[in-house]
Amino acid sequence: MIRRRHFLAIHLLSPLTLNLSTAPDTAAWRPRLHYTPQRHWINDPNGLFFLDGEYHAYYQYNPGGATWGDIGWGHAVSSDLLNWQERPLALPATDDEMAFSGSIVIDEHNVSGLQPAGATRPVLLAYYTRYDRRSKVQSQCLAYSTDGGDSFVRWAGNPLLDIGSLEFRDPYVFRHEASGRWVMLVVLALERQVVVYTSDDLLRWRKASVFGAAGATADTIWEVPVLLPLPVDGEPGLQRWVLFVSINGGTRWGGSGVQYFVGNFDGERFVLDPAAAADAVRWGDHGRDFYAPLPFARKPGIVDAPGARPVWMGWMNNWDYAREVPSAPWRGQLSLPRELSLARQDRGWCLVQRVALAVERARRPALLDLHACPAAEAARALAALAPHGRQWRATLRAARHAVVQPLVLSVFTGSGAPVRVGFDPVLDSYFIDRRKPSPAFAGESEIHHAPRDRSRDAVELEVWVDGCTVELFADGGRVVLSDLVFPDPAADGVALSHGSANPVLAAFSLEPLQA
Ligand code: FRU
Repeated sequence: MIRRRHFLAIHLLSPLTLNLSTAPDTAAWRPRLHYTPQRHWINDPNGLFFLDGEYHAYYQYNPGGATWGDIGWGHAVSSDLLNWQERPLALPATDDEMAFSGSIVIDEHNVSGLQPAGATRPVLLAYYTRYDRRSKVQSQCLAYSTDGGDSFVRWAGNPLLDIGSLEFRDPYVFRHEASGRWVMLVVLALERQVVVYTSDDLLRWRKASVFGAAGATADTIWEVPVLLPLPVDGEPGLQRWVLFVSINGGTRWGGSGVQYFVGNFDGERFVLDPAAAADAVRWGDHGRDFYAPLPFARKPGIVDAPGARPVWMGWMNNWDYAREVPSAPWRGQLSLPRELSLARQDRGWCLVQRVALAVERARRPALLDLHACPAAEAARALAALAPHGRQWRATLRAARHAVVQPLVLSVFTGSGAPVRVGFDPVLDSYFIDRRKPSPAFAGESEIHHAPRDRSRDAVELEVWVDGCTVELFADGGRVVLSDLVFPDPAADGVALSHGSANPVLAAFSLEPLQA
């Protein structure tokens, strides 16, 4: 199976396999807490930033259709990370170029000199990859906004970096406080390398180092690099630098996914932590539908503040089947915003992701909130309630040694095959089971597993369900699985099963969610 496909082959395969005029009513699948565009195609989040009380999300957007094409940057704004307002296209494609993925810097001190005289708000610098429609060359370019992020003007001095490559993209720019420099990461996709550039003025960039290939390198290409200092849970003041690379192909479960490396960064070079260097590949998410995540940029200094937890969002989809998922009139959604930190694990480190605090506000009073309750009793209480809905947060906790048969929360019950989220004691793994008899696309007939954190005697699940999205944060966020699901639109029940064993649940809760 050859997974290393060239960029154009990945995206420009035969479009629409689904006849939208005969598609089912898919309104039931539309998430309410996750960002979706009103219509058409999205992929990667781009240029996320937070400024003056507003979160801005840009994303790869095709304004003309439900498959990849004519890509520019769409735009949405939110004051609470829950309710998003779609805005006009911020950086459209032109006749000559498309605007591929990238990031935004808030140039608070006008280092670039692009802020107009007398302007009161900072100029925003969007670093993106220009895809030249004729030559197909990918080069790194700059566009800037003087109206708070609604519209961007392409800089006259473009390109910033052009090495004549057809596979050189996804600039990620940030300020490295300790060296006082600006840093840009760009991937050489086919070489599976991240190239580090530095700058003093945000306009002229010099090459500083190269990282890779490393980790999962077989049959894959590298995309969308991110480099962040993350706080270590329970050890105030301690940080480690984490390099994330989205890889297309070569994942354990097929298609695209996110791997990460833990180490140190001195402003020029990323070096793997010696303990982490011996690690097997580390995955940011064990489901199939989390790709190209990007943190929200803030004013310089805030991201680096000790203890600060960056928040990121990814594209919930997989390049293996993104163009086939049956939602309409939109295709593609962003994940829930997640706070990031690290935990020590074995001799190395483990990424921890928790649903961002702001999103917790969507939790409504619990329908059930049981403690020290035998599973059979909890299942009966849930059945008696007969809850209906498509937006839920559920938690489930038990001592590991007590669970000898699968513990399963089924959502979207009542019509057709439900989605099963749970823990399998034989495999010692968490899972999302989205198998159903007549899948709408190939990957939908799968079950995805992720190993439990074996350093604890606990089975601990926090499940967020929202329309076509299921995100499982297990073991306090050390194990995450994100999957798209497209159940029968009439199915909206919830059930708990525990096999013939009846373990005591330390906790079991079910809460409706509302944005
Ligand atoms: C990642 C990606 C990027 C590219 C963009 C194009 O999903 O392939 O590498 O910039 O999407 O839409």
